[in-house]
Amino acid sequence: MKKQPGWALPDLKEAQKRTNAEAHIEKNLFQIPEQIKMLGQGKKYYLRTYGCQANERDSETLAGILEEMAFTPCDNPEDADFILLNTCAIRKNAEDKVLGELGSLKRLKREKPDIVFGLCGCMAQEEEIVKTLLEKYRHVDLIFGTHNIHRLPELLYQVMMNGKRSVEVLSKEGDVIENLPVRRFGKHKAWVNIMYGCDKFCTYCIVPYTRGKERSRTMEDVLDEIRTLKQEGFKEVTLLGQNVNSYGKDLHIAGGFAKLLEETAKIGIERIRFTTSHPWDFSDEMVDVIAQYDNIMPFIHLPVQSGDSDVLKLMGRRYSIEQYKTLFHKIEEKIPGCAISTDIIVGFPNETKEQFQHTLDLVDECKFDNAFTFIYSPREGTPAARMEDNIPLEEKQERLQQLNERWNKYALEKNLAYIGKTVKVLVDGPSKKNKDIYSGYTDTNKLVNFVRKDAEPGDIVEVKITDAKTFSLDGEQL
Ligand code: SAH
Ligand code: SF4
Ligand code: F3S
Repeated sequence: MKKQPGWALPDLKEAQKRTNAEAHIEKNLFQIPEQIKMLGQGKKYYLRTYGCQANERDSETLAGILEEMAFTPCDNPEDADFILLNTCAIRKNAEDKVLGELGSLKRLKREKPDIVFGLCGCMAQEEEIVKTLLEKYRHVDLIFGTHNIHRLPELLYQVMMNGKRSVEVLSKEGDVIENLPVRRFGKHKAWVNIMYGCDKFCTYCIVPYTRGKERSRTMEDVLDEIRTLKQEGFKEVTLLGQNVNSYGKDLHIAGGFAKLLEETAKIGIERIRFTTSHPWDFSDEMVDVIAQYDNIMPFIHLPVQSGDSDVLKLMGRRYSIEQYKTLFHKIEEKIPGCAISTDIIVGFPNETKEQFQHTLDLVDECKFDNAFTFIYSPREGTPAARMEDNIPLEEKQERLQQLNERWNKYALEKNLAYIGKTVKVLVDGPSKKNKDIYSGYTDTNKLVNFVRKDAEPGDIVEVKITDAKTFSLDGEQL
């Protein structure tokens, strides 16, 4: 496929570069030109989101933008005039899902030639993927990346008016743009970006390439958003960043993430969560603030990735397993009852049986409440993808299964200890199968299915736990 004039294609080498320049905070950049404002009149959009909370939050902005252009949402791709997939590149299977979906939606283009297909998010930032899309997925009309979401109105207008494909992916991150519209998907729980990008460059990970340099929002902008959410009746906010502990470092914000957490707590919103914290710069101040405020939930997602210090070194994680354990036990001691979950990768290139055993040993010691476990997936352009790997896939699958059995055992044990206790649950709503059974989450982020008395979505109610499973608790509202 020949590059067309006006296209901007991704470049992973460019994306890897970092400068010391501070990100510019743009408060007035976004606007929809008059002639585009009604582009979506009488038209429907179908938006599907893959990947992490950063993408979920981006989709709320994409939806906000499209609705300001008079598009209305629909749940079925068959009904849509514009189909947009907001994609994830973290592992090959995430990409395969998207390519599969694109393949199966292709027939819609034959039935309805005017339909516009768009792809954005992290896959759009990858050179090879965009090449594949341009060559083999010719029904994709619009490709844009994670740094120029605000360009959606103009890009979509060009495609709809000229009928030509449009590709605009910036490899270097842009400004922090503050005035984008948002349509929140939840009524009681909201995602709040506190920073964008990642500078950690763990050797296996594509995120620093797809999301660019770490850029913090100002503390006032974050706190203003949370104050507004509280006024609008939101009960819970989750502060989002690939690595929230680094919050404010780029802008030299005094007190960093610990200070932001404390100021958020003082606003008085009922529940505060955050994700993700890297064990490397998890400060004592952060532990103290979490311990001190009742509205900062006693739940920490603390990805370890491996239980072996040599593997951690190859992964570029910047901590040894001893340092991780010290932090883990400090949290347990200072925040009694705190639930801790983790992420683990098995089968990193050349991981020995003994090194994998160290991961199992760590699980035995930490007894995590929850774990997200993955088979290592080489990501083009990352250092780990250039390492030779002598572990066969079957062996990796075997290890994953062993690991899952191990952590599941402890997760069940932890949940069984809840039986007979009374917990506070923020109610999400009725379960799909049985309208008398409601569900919601505890402070410690445990899913509870309970027999309802008078609970309404958004209430925080007391529930007595009557039974426990590996992934959820059962109970009765008091
Ligand atoms: N910023 C977060 C992680 C985001 S990615 C953090 O540092 O904790 C979520 C998880 O995906 C990672 O914690 C890791 O366990 C997993 N992951 C990332 N890259 C991967 C890869 N190439 N193969 C397998 N798992 C990967
Ligand atoms: Fe990826 Fe590491 Fe950054 Fe997390 S901290 S997003 S794993 S590079
Ligand atoms: Fe996936 Fe991008 Fe998030 S790669 S995990 S959607 S930052």
